[in-house]
Amino acid sequence: MTSKYAVIGNPIEHSKSPLIHAAFAAQTGQDMTYGRILGTDFERDVRAFLADGGRGLNVTVPFKEEAWRLADERSPLAESAGAVNTLMLLDNGRLRGENTDGLGLVRDLTQNHGERLDGKRLLLLGAGGASRGVVRPLLERQPAQLVIANRTAAKALNLAEELRGLGPISGCGFDQLNGLAFDLIINGTSAGLVGEMPELPADCLVLGGICYDMMYSDRRTAFVRWGLANGASISLDGLGMLVEQAAESFYLWRGVRPDTAPVIRLLRPQGPVTE
Ligand code: ATR
Repeated sequence: MTSKYAVIGNPIEHSKSPLIHAAFAAQTGQDMTYGRILGTDFERDVRAFLADGGRGLNVTVPFKEEAWRLADERSPLAESAGAVNTLMLLDNGRLRGENTDGLGLVRDLTQNHGERLDGKRLLLLGAGGASRGVVRPLLERQPAQLVIANRTAAKALNLAEELRGLGPISGCGFDQLNGLAFDLIINGTSAGLVGEMPELPADCLVLGGICYDMMYSDRRTAFVRWGLANGASISLDGLGMLVEQAAESFYLWRGVRPDTAPVIRLLRPQGPVTE
């Protein structure tokens, strides 16, 4: 029987998830549909989808925290992320919440771009939901340190304090980055939505370091441009992360791991937007 999946968010019309999952399903021969739901009353919408035979959902802005609360059980990654981007209906009728965003980021960096994180100095910009979601998978790669810097310093300090059992993590404001240098800087702020860039010291990236923007765009984002102007060897946006987090959701639902490379090429035939 055909299995039903969908992505729920608001707005939802620009979501690339239906295209990505259709490509995965075609590639792996899975008998499934994947639609999009404009969420208004999240819990009611989810229950209606499940009552109609739905097996799983991807959850996007602004419902990830609500999905965390709605789940009957949660994976450790979802637990520390405080947010759920993947819901799956288990055979026993319980709704399981997962978060695949951080794994998507780590896979894009390590598998698609061949970067190592162990022993590296990592700087994560922003202390909202996007940043929180990736802390645990990053620390699992055993970096030398993970500094969370935020415009509102107190939020970075609080997040670091809350998650400090997971590894060498600390929090600060942007002005406390003077004199520090990092091998990899990840942008988890929403500054790019309005074309802005967090106020970083120009020398906080080591020469030849890496910049990674969790946002993606067909044009270079403000942060990708900042990386290129400040000595990055590669400065990437989050399209690869988007496809990788989708692949992880697909694997959780279907038990089959799709090949992500052709789907990344499908979405961006011209290759990474880096120059
Ligand atoms: P999300 O769930 O997408 O992370 P969020 O929880 O609203 O959204 O968090 C947005 C993050 O982007 C915050 O860290 C925010 O900084 P503040 O905590 O100081 O508000 C950061 N942010 C948004 N606009 C920014 C800007 N122009 N410059 C720097 N940081 C910005």
